[in-house]
Amino acid sequence: MKRVLIVGCGFPQLSLIRLARRLGHHVIGADFNPRAPGVGECSEFIEVSTNDVEGLCGAMQKTRADAITTSGSEVSLKATAAVAARLGLPFHADPETIRRCQEKDAMRAGYEAGGVPVPPFGRCETLADARAFAEKHGFPVVIKPSRGWGQRGVARVDDESELAPAFEGAMAQSKSAGLAMVVIEAFLEGGEYSVNGWIEEGRLVSYCVTERLTVPGKRPLGVMVAELYPSGLSAADEARVVDAARAGAHALGHTRGPCYSQVMLGPRGAYLLETAARMGGGFDADVTRLASGVDLYERVLGVALDDGALERAGRSHEAHPAAVAKFLIGKPGIVRRVEGVDRALARPGVVEAGVFIPVGGEVHPLTDSAKRAGYVLAHGSSRNDVIATADAALSDITLETT
Ligand SMILES: Nc1ncnc2c1ncn2[C@@H]1O[C@H](COP(=O)(O)OP(=O)(O)O)[C@@H](O)[C@H]1O
Ligand SMILES: [Mg+2]
Repeated sequence: MKRVLIVGCGFPQLSLIRLARRLGHHVIGADFNPRAPGVGECSEFIEVSTNDVEGLCGAMQKTRADAITTSGSEVSLKATAAVAARLGLPFHADPETIRRCQEKDAMRAGYEAGGVPVPPFGRCETLADARAFAEKHGFPVVIKPSRGWGQRGVARVDDESELAPAFEGAMAQSKSAGLAMVVIEAFLEGGEYSVNGWIEEGRLVSYCVTERLTVPGKRPLGVMVAELYPSGLSAADEARVVDAARAGAHALGHTRGPCYSQVMLGPRGAYLLETAARMGGGFDADVTRLASGVDLYERVLGVALDDGALERAGRSHEAHPAAVAKFLIGKPGIVRRVEGVDRALARPGVVEAGVFIPVGGEVHPLTDSAKRAGYVLAHGSSRNDVIATADAALSDITLETT
């Protein structure tokens, strides 16, 4: 038994916390929110923000932790890598690699330098810069903070009148995260796909490609509502998507461990939107486990525990023909009543279901991906079948707010 500190107790870390407990470890959860959904599943909880490197180093010492790890969140990832580097503990990526995979301007520049196709893009410090880009390339464009995650401040802009509010929203987010700069790029038509992979001997191996279904709307743009396997793509198109993800990871020098990539595939080809040196934050690795039988959480834990066999864990679960993680989007307000999760769980094919916000807590408007309110994880015999199961299970759940 090891003492493992897991940075973050939100829904992106839930499965990692559960796995570490199942394997018999003492799990110390760290989060600024004592009501986060994973807190109750930890052996021990310590209240410290997931971006507080000093505080996390102190927590490691105070709790006599042997190892540190995380999954699913960019903020937690950055801090975890910094703490691991400082304390000389194993982690799958160093802070500099993570920086290249997080800062959107650095990421775009890295892709370009590595010959990976990127949409026309520019860096803007002023609204005039953004306007000049739009005049040159035409609308629609996408505006995003150069420092951001979870779709905070990401907007589609269709005309001049939408430019200033989108610019200001992205700028506010980016400034608060440390850099007064926004990225503007051409809007790409097409379908969006997630590549859930692991980098083995420097090469990305894909374990599951999902179709990434998003909530309609332009601001925020692209909040994921479901990750659906199989992707619905032909084998040839899926290979193009995986090739783009592999080229991106290579260009950014991400050479070990979890790799989650978002790719747009449309009439202009396959374009990489981003490469993350972690697993997806929306139960993506859970869908991957249901689809492939390979549990990437086991591998993440294997890296942190310096357990080579666990880091290379192969297929240890049943692989299903179809799988999905689908989110519940709540009505903003204070939660008065949560019901029906048991009914959802009783449906054949439903593996997990839950609501993240307890009675008395608040459902916030959907300004970013962290505001999603609950989820269902299911497997089935086909895309249609598994979506029907997830929708039925979601409709079993009542989340009443006032
Ligand atoms: N150039 C683009 N064209 C079309 N859609 C985009 C573009 N850039 C981003 N999006 C949509 O917005 C979402 C969020 O953008 P992304 O750059 O991944 O920001 P974040 O890191 O906050 O998730 C994407 O997953 C996608 O759905
Ligand atoms: Mg993204």
